Amino acid sequence: MSEKQFAVALDGPSGAGKSTLAKAIAAKLRILYVDTGAIYRSIGCYAFQNGIDGKDAPAVTAALPHIHIEVRYGDDGLQHMILNGTDVTKEIRLPEVSLYASQVSAIPAVRAFLLQMQRDMAAKNSVIMDGRDIGTVVLPDAKVKIYLDASAEVRARRREKELAERGTPKPYEEVLREVNERDWADMHREIAPLRPADDAIMVDTSDVDFEGALSLLLDVIRGRLAD
Ligand code: DC
Repeated sequence: MSEKQFAVALDGPSGAGKSTLAKAIAAKLRILYVDTGAIYRSIGCYAFQNGIDGKDAPAVTAALPHIHIEVRYGDDGLQHMILNGTDVTKEIRLPEVSLYASQVSAIPAVRAFLLQMQRDMAAKNSVIMDGRDIGTVVLPDAKVKIYLDASAEVRARRREKELAERGTPKPYEEVLREVNERDWADMHREIAPLRPADDAIMVDTSDVDFEGALSLLLDVIRGRLAD
């Protein structure tokens, strides 16, 4: 890693705004944005496409040697996920794949399989990497660690809006229940549970809009980098 190179670890629950903010921050700071959720989603996608139960740890573990995952950056600057030679960037966003991703991400062999790949990306580039365990496990020495949060209600409203815009609306109560279930699963799994690193800066986006959150995060990052 060169002296000027740095890593920003951005963790937090789904719907806190991590990916939208990380993308904008990466563009502003001219660094690489790594969406680690997309990497877990690619494993979930393989299980889904091959009829493997995402909760069946031995079956998913046995499949790992058959899975080749590549992260490519298109001319659009966006992260594309290549699963065994096929671009699955769109497929990994299917709701079924979200469920599989959550299930496979609780399997220790899956996390071990992906750990080095994530570290290699941060070793070669200045990155802002978003996920659940970036500050605690993947990049414990990251120069900047941020834990981005928002209330479950605010995150459920954002998700409800997103689903409606996508043409697949769902009642708010159902979305809120799913948000709470996913939080619980991510925070209570045995391996790499979602939690802030001891040295993470806590940022809550419940009451700020995108521009407000972006300038807050840029201030936090620039402040830490200047230390
Ligand atoms: O951020 P996301 O919703 O795209 O993540 C998909 C799933 O992967 C989610 O259930 C949490 C899991 N995940 C994880 O366990 N560790 C990460 N570093 C990133 C995502």
